[in-house]
Amino acid sequence: MKARYGEKKTVTIRRFEPRDLGGVLEVDAEVGGDHDPVLFTVFYESHPSTLLVAESEGQIIGVVVGFRQSPSEGRVFWLAVRPGHHGLGIGCRLITDLMAIFRKLGVIKVILEVRMGNQKAQSLYAKMGFGMATACPDYYPDGEGAIIMTRPL
Ligand SMILES: CC(C)(COP(=O)(O)OP(=O)(O)OC[C@H]1O[C@@H](n2cnc3c(N)ncnc32)[C@H](O)[C@@H]1OP(=O)(O)O)[C@@H](O)C(=O)NCCC(=O)NCCS
Repeated sequence: MKARYGEKKTVTIRRFEPRDLGGVLEVDAEVGGDHDPVLFTVFYESHPSTLLVAESEGQIIGVVVGFRQSPSEGRVFWLAVRPGHHGLGIGCRLITDLMAIFRKLGVIKVILEVRMGNQKAQSLYAKMGFGMATACPDYYPDGEGAIIMTRPL
């Protein structure tokens, strides 16, 4: 799917391909993540239809990692947008496209967890129809709690 933003830039949301790995790792590093590169290869091999990237002018500017964890339940594992492209609706577009794919796969409920301190992501997910289901203190290895959010499809 293609859409325009800003003056001249076109953003395409599409499936991840192995050649995107370098760009995805750059996005990860720019948002302070430290995912093992193997993780993306594993998701690509096991859940290729729900590993999506946003591309603009040949550059990977966003990624969403989702997977169907049971026949009826989807999970958003990770979402990130390159900081220079924040606030332009790219995160929402990645989630919107992922939800459409989940729907086609027969998913009726989507679940995710987000750090308690990550207000930006919580706002995005709330805007995309997710509601807070549970708060889990001490969820992450660094001691921060998580909020579990879900939405029906
Ligand atoms: C969270 C993240 C993916 C948002 O991506 P984005 O492309 O900037 O988001 P969008 O432009 O689609 O914004 C959608 C909504 O998110 C929320 N949002 C985005 N930026 C925000 C900010 N700076 N402050 C508060 N809410 C914000 C708003 O609800 C916004 O809707 P609005 O524009 O109508 O106000 C991005 O900030 C990011 O990559 N953060 C680092 C990685 C991360 O935290 N990932 C989530 C892991 S669970």
